Amino acid sequence: MRNRNFAIRAATLADSQSIASLHTASWRNTYRGILPDTYLDGPIAEERANHWRARLASPGADRRQVLLVEGEGGLVGFVCVLLDQESLWGACLDNLHVLPRLKGRGLGRQLFSSAAQWVVSKEPGWPMHLWVFESNYGARGFYEALGGEVVERSFKETPAGTEIASLRYVWYDLISLLRNLSI
Ligand SMILES: CC(C)(COP(=O)(O)OP(=O)(O)OC[C@H]1O[C@@H](n2cnc3c(N)ncnc32)[C@H](O)[C@@H]1OP(=O)(O)O)[C@@H](O)C(=O)NCCC(=O)NCCS
Repeated sequence: MRNRNFAIRAATLADSQSIASLHTASWRNTYRGILPDTYLDGPIAEERANHWRARLASPGADRRQVLLVEGEGGLVGFVCVLLDQESLWGACLDNLHVLPRLKGRGLGRQLFSSAAQWVVSKEPGWPMHLWVFESNYGARGFYEALGGEVVERSFKETPAGTEIASLRYVWYDLISLLRNLSI
């Protein structure tokens, strides 16, 4: 197995800083040319740490799940899924990031599958959706490899204050998806 040296667990408030560091590294690596350099080179590590502290400390922990994948050296990826954000479309996968140097080793698939499994355990029959920047071709290739379907295009406000064409991907049948992913 490719990922036998990695384990998945639920995040706690104490993980906020390490999630923020990985999130910052992933944004700087992936969003160069998509978000402004002035924003990416600014104090986003502090901004992300505040964001994750607030999210992990907020009430309603049973309606969200933040999952971490860790190796011997610590955190290498995370995913966040929210049940009550645009729930017309089911659960919302709000963030999915793998350490840039470990991309393409199946960790994203492992996190995505674990998030889908959690959704099925909480809300059987719900779909799952997410928004991705239209020009984030790498992530789109990943979502399409996992059978995601584009259902909407919209200009969404980014954390940098800009507006960017974004696509909503949906997975309608998580149980079949998990079967296909052999989970
Ligand atoms: C998107 C991301 C989470 C995918 O995780 P990953 O660990 O690199 O992907 P995996 O190795 O699990 O790949 C799973 C499948 O997707 C495919 N895939 C992955 N990246 C792809 C790409 N850039 N283009 C096409 N297919 C891709 C793989 O080939 C694999 O399919 P296979 O099993 O049939 O071979 C990761 O690349 C990442 O963190 N990207 C930067 C952050 C980001 O853009 N997050 C999404 C924000 S909406």
